[in-house]
Amino acid sequence: MSLWLAVTLIVAAALGAAAFAFIHAPHSLAGAPAAAPNEAAGGGLADITAALQALPHAALLLDETGRVAAKNAAAAELTGAAVGKPFAASFRVPDLHAAIEQVRDGADTAEASFTLPVPVERSIEAHVAPVEIGGRRYQLAFLHDITAMVRVEKMRADFVANASHELRTPLTSLSGFLETIMGPAKDDPEATQRFLEIMQSQAARMRRLIDDLLSLSRIELNEHMRPAAKADLAAIVRDVVDAGQPLLTRANVKVLIEVAEGTRPVTGERDELVQIAQNLIDNAVKYGAEGGDIAVRLFPGPDGTTTALSVADKGLGIAREHLPRLTERFYRVDATASRERGGTGLGLAIVKHILNRHRGRLEIESEPGKGSKFTIFVPVWQPVPAASAVAG
Ligand SMILES: Nc1ncnc2c1ncn2[C@@H]1O[C@H](COP(=O)(O)OP(=O)(O)OP(=O)(O)O)[C@@H](O)[C@H]1O
Ligand SMILES: [Mg+2]
Repeated sequence: MSLWLAVTLIVAAALGAAAFAFIHAPHSLAGAPAAAPNEAAGGGLADITAALQALPHAALLLDETGRVAAKNAAAAELTGAAVGKPFAASFRVPDLHAAIEQVRDGADTAEASFTLPVPVERSIEAHVAPVEIGGRRYQLAFLHDITAMVRVEKMRADFVANASHELRTPLTSLSGFLETIMGPAKDDPEATQRFLEIMQSQAARMRRLIDDLLSLSRIELNEHMRPAAKADLAAIVRDVVDAGQPLLTRANVKVLIEVAEGTRPVTGERDELVQIAQNLIDNAVKYGAEGGDIAVRLFPGPDGTTTALSVADKGLGIAREHLPRLTERFYRVDATASRERGGTGLGLAIVKHILNRHRGRLEIESEPGKGSKFTIFVPVWQPVPAASAVAG
């Protein structure tokens, strides 16, 4: 709304100048008549076109016959509008033309929202208001592409729905078992013990989900602040593998770590890099074939500005169509299989956000049935230049 107001003011200022130019158009010295209203308005319309051109969104001015009197480049691109041509012929959106009609019929303002299906789906919000130049009435239409806003809003809504669903599932199970323990299984200590164990794992699942959500929002909050510390990725990976040894032994999985010559430290925050290594190795254990080895490699990135860490398993693999979506929150190739393994679908989303913060990147290679390889590239460590001495 405030943008629309600002736009109206800018255009109104331009219109004011045009009207002023028209009213004060000097008579020629030779005594020729002053310019006809049309021409004068035409001169003003050139100013208006310049003003519209400075706007960040599509804007156009229509005359009383519905022809385009002025437009900016964004409007021409979005609607195909051409000066002098009937607008309705180039841009067939009934809701927008109805709004223009309302303003032409005397409304102070009118709005319309619509989507354009091609070439890519876009959501547009249009505002139309009347303006008067040189005694003639025009309609000013301002078209705002709100596709990105709509997408963010949808993601937010999906996120809340997913998070609630993920929390509701263990909660339902917890209350179900509670009822059973208090009712039918009241006098069955063996069943009660078994149910309590399940309840414990459900509660742990809820805690993990909440921890992951908090971690994700903390990383997102700091995403614009690049870490400056020096971190040794190889040492981090060794620590993660050592700490996870009991789990690895239980899963009968060996992690082989190889550090190539020339591997350099990175610019990064240790705790966050630990989270990346943990998530990638955890996935390799969860989705890698049981008993298969996991190969972890550290090596200099291709152009020497990054250090790479790859985690490869010989497991399920991932079909091609899923690869671009794996880092979305809650995205899982097989939600049931992931849940059975205690997954919440947030691990790779966390990896992606940490990498964004580190100005790093993630590459995923996978072949169904053969295995997957996740490789991260993190900028090598560079000392921050010492603050230059203040001349004095
Ligand atoms: N190494 C892998 N092999 C096969 N599939 C994988 C591998 N790593 C991830 N995936 C797929 O990507 C999905 C998303 O992974 P992600 O780590 O984000 O979530 P998760 O492991 O299901 O849960 P969480 O990491 O939150 O415990 C997984 O559910 C799985 O389908
Ligand atoms: Mg995971």
